[in-house]
Formats: sequence, C-alpha cells, structure tokens
Amino acid sequence: MLELKNISFGVDDEGERKEIIRDVSLTIPDDKLVVVTGPNGGGKSTLARLIAGIERPASGRIFFNGTDITEVSITDRAKMGIGFAFQQPVRFKGIQVLDLIRLATGKPISAAHACKYLSAVGLCARDYIDREVNASLSGGELKRIEIATVLAKAPTLAVFDEPEAGIDLWSFQNLIEVFEGMRAKIQGSSILIISHQERILNIADEIVVIKDGSVSAQGTKDEILPSLIGTTSAVATCSVFGQADGVPRLGKTEEKEVL
Ligand SMILES: Nc1ncnc2c1ncn2[C@@H]1O[C@H](COP(=O)(O)OP(=O)(O)OP(=O)(O)O)[C@@H](O)[C@H]1O
Ligand SMILES: [Mg+2]
Repeated sequence: MLELKNISFGVDDEGERKEIIRDVSLTIPDDKLVVVTGPNGGGKSTLARLIAGIERPASGRIFFNGTDITEVSITDRAKMGIGFAFQQPVRFKGIQVLDLIRLATGKPISAAHACKYLSAVGLCARDYIDREVNASLSGGELKRIEIATVLAKAPTLAVFDEPEAGIDLWSFQNLIEVFEGMRAKIQGSSILIISHQERILNIADEIVVIKDGSVSAQGTKDEILPSLIGTTSAVATCSVFGQADGVPRLGKTEEKEVL
C-alpha cells in the first residue's frame, strides 16, 4: 500500500515560486487498480516523479507498506518493489532489450523467457530482443518495451504514466488486455495508471482526478466515471487564442479520451 500524506511540491519558475502539487493526500491500497486522470498540466506526472523519488516533496510524507520512503533514493524504492513506466521513457544507448528485461527481473533469464514479456505487449519478440534501446526505436516501440520491463519486474506497486501515449489502436487493445491480466493477478500488489483513456478508466477499481495540483474528485469507478464522461471542457479556454477567427478549435480527436 502506498500512502501520500499532505504532499506539496513547487518549482522556481523564472524567479517565482510555482506550486505544482498542493497538499495531496492519497492512498493506493493493496489489491486495487487505481487510475489517476485529470486535465493536462494538472500535476499527474509530477506526482509519479514524487512517488519514484525523482523529485522530493517540499512538505508531506510518503509511506510504502508502512515504511516512510520520503528520503529513500530512486534505486532503493525500486528495490523495495516500486516499478515505473514513464510518460517519456528513457533510451539506454549500448544496452540491448534483453539486458533491460534481465535487469528488471534481477535474474539471468533465458532469451525465450524474456521474449514472453515482449510478446505480451504485442512486439514480435525475436525482432526486438537483440535491439539496442537507442534512438532507432520508435516512440511506440520504446513505450511498449518499457511496459514489458515493468511486467518482467512484477513490482509490488506498478506505476504507468500514460501508457497509451504513442501507442497505435491495435497495440492499445493489447495493452488493455495486459492490464486486465495484471488486475486478475493483483493479490498482494497494486497498480497505479495515469491515463486519459475511457477504456483504461473502465478497468479501474478507483479513480482519482487531479486538477491544478489537488485532488478534485476521488472514488470508485462507478462514482467518478459517469461525471467524467459528461465533461466537455476541463480547463477554461484562453480567450486570446480560443475565440480568434480562423483559428480552428481543437475538436475531440479521440472519442474515448475523457480528460
Ligand atoms: N520543472 C518545472 N518547471 C516549471 N514548471 C513545471 C516543471 N515541472 C512541471 N511543471 C509544470 O507543472 C505542471 C504539472 O505538470 P505535469 O507534467 O505533472 O502535468 P500532467 O498532469 O502530467 O499533464 P499531462 O496530462 O499533460 O501529462 C505543468 O503546468 C508543468 O508545466
Ligand atoms: Mg503527464
């Protein structure tokens, strides 16, 4: 179980203090799949970085299975069983996909075993297992390889930041099945997915809405999802740009994207 208690975080933005996370308290219970959603810029990825230990809160504490991990390093948090797939995955020049998956499992597993995880995310394993994790991989391939490493790690808490980003429709279907499979075997662990996609929100046990750095709604899927589906505009449109003649308004490009 992960507990965030009164977490605040801000940055120095051109000499001015900018509050990004404001007094957020949140629990990700065991055996639950929690989806965090909310408008762009609301603070979701920042929250993920605080959980990973990439950023440190200005105030508040983070507990993982009862242990205060606020001052614990990224590496030690990973060792404690927190696994991440970031919104923008990191490339590792000189490292092969197989190495990355072996690192995730912590064991010298066979290539055939490692291939299982690549196949799970819809990649033809033999085409990728020897590839270097460098700029030659497309964004969607990299994203799926990162998700495969989280599957291989099988962490106690798995965090996915917008796993759908850059993933094609066919792979997206596959991804939903991957998450449903993880949910089916969740006993003793928990999953946190940051997403804008209705189909991912639909498999949540609980939904948390983060807006302007605060929790604006929180509850079971049945309590929260209906109100999100009706949302047409999550943020006020800037009048300077929004109303100008000849400037096309952004339409709903993906029907199922709710926020
Ligand atoms: N180092 C920084 N300096 C200045 N502003 C920052 C910094 N890091 C984050 N921000 C701002 O904090 C806000 C929250 O960013 P964050 O990436 O957490 O949003 P998000 O909810 O993940 O959005 P999205 O849905 O677009 O991924 C944004 O307005 C962002 O510009
Ligand atoms: Mg984000």
